[in-house]
Amino acid sequence: MSKTFSILIPTYNEHDNIAPLLERIAAAVQEQNYEVLFVDDNSRDGTAELINSLSTRYPARVIVRKDKRGLATAVTDGFGLVNSDTILVMDADLQHPPEIIPALIKAIHDGADIAIASRYVKGGGTSGWSTIRKITSSGAIMLAHIFLPHSRQVKDPMSGFFVFKSSVIDEVKLSPIGYKILLEMLVVGKASKVSEVPFMFQLREKGQSKLNISQEGEYLKHLFSLMHRSGEILRFLKFLLVGVSGTIVNLGILWLLHDQSMLNWDIRIALLVAIEVSILTNFILNNYFTFRDRRQSGSSTLIINCLRYNFFSIPGGILNWLTTIVLTDKSNGSYIMLNLVGVAVAMLWNFIANSLWTWKKR
Ligand code: GDD
Ligand code: MN
Repeated sequence: MSKTFSILIPTYNEHDNIAPLLERIAAAVQEQNYEVLFVDDNSRDGTAELINSLSTRYPARVIVRKDKRGLATAVTDGFGLVNSDTILVMDADLQHPPEIIPALIKAIHDGADIAIASRYVKGGGTSGWSTIRKITSSGAIMLAHIFLPHSRQVKDPMSGFFVFKSSVIDEVKLSPIGYKILLEMLVVGKASKVSEVPFMFQLREKGQSKLNISQEGEYLKHLFSLMHRSGEILRFLKFLLVGVSGTIVNLGILWLLHDQSMLNWDIRIALLVAIEVSILTNFILNNYFTFRDRRQSGSSTLIINCLRYNFFSIPGGILNWLTTIVLTDKSNGSYIMLNLVGVAVAMLWNFIANSLWTWKKR
């Protein structure tokens, strides 16, 4: 490992960006002992030839993949070919300004395992983005934050501009789909300290973005695959199972208080008690089963979390109460359907709210 750090850059038809990119990198990092490795997917505009011709002026080389295509695998293939334990990944199109490379490297020297050039911390941003692109970008991040708790530690898990210590991926199997290599590393990698350095994502001046609508679908596939590999699908199933147990508790209490001839409580009161008891049993089961790994000790947090859980259960509880009362009057099919849809929506809401706020710690 002879270099201080390696810069890994995937390219596809970036001919016009290569010379200014290498020049700006050299100016930004001064005479440090670095290397640049380009992983090119057989560009037809002479990108690779240009890099080769510039390799006498800059510490740069290129490997060309003849048949493989795709940003994520270009980057992961490059991981095995660099000569340093500190690896920086960036785009070739100058949307990632090389001038902040020193700040990223410094964050690693200061103890970070991954340092991210971030659009979403104070001082960062994007220039010239349409409203649609802004919304899809924030939506993608929100989905990650909801369903992949490991991504919650950072504001911009989608950035394509970051540096990391190779120990983060030692003996880790990476199988990213699409564009989001950083997200993959945050979820399955071994980073304990992650920091973010603000930057402005620049407009692309030369060449074209390869991002298209199919990337959105790829992203959802990747999200699902990461949820599966990190045990989050299993967690959601456990949550559903607890929900089923709560329904049984609910019906049981209702039967005991309302239908039993000795007690014969008013259904509206009996239902209220039944709902609250099932909320409590659900909380206990979720705390010791579904979210066992994110449970915090101490009786005061237990009480606070129980109150939170109750608070988030209010909409579902009201829905349950109303539809049950209505259903006992008119046992008509459309109300049953409505009730089922209501239960599904309430379950999803309960999972999201409690995962984000009750058991937010990862
Ligand atoms: N080797 C290889 N193979 N490189 C590719 C391929 C490919 O199939 N597709 C794209 N690249 C290279 C481009 O040449 C460029 O250097 C870099 O990957 C980024 O591609 P763009 O097409 O410019 O992506 P973008 O600007 O839309 O997306 C960037 O920003 C996103 C954040 O909004 C990327 O950095 C994403 O990772 C990031 O999430
Ligand atoms: Mn780009």
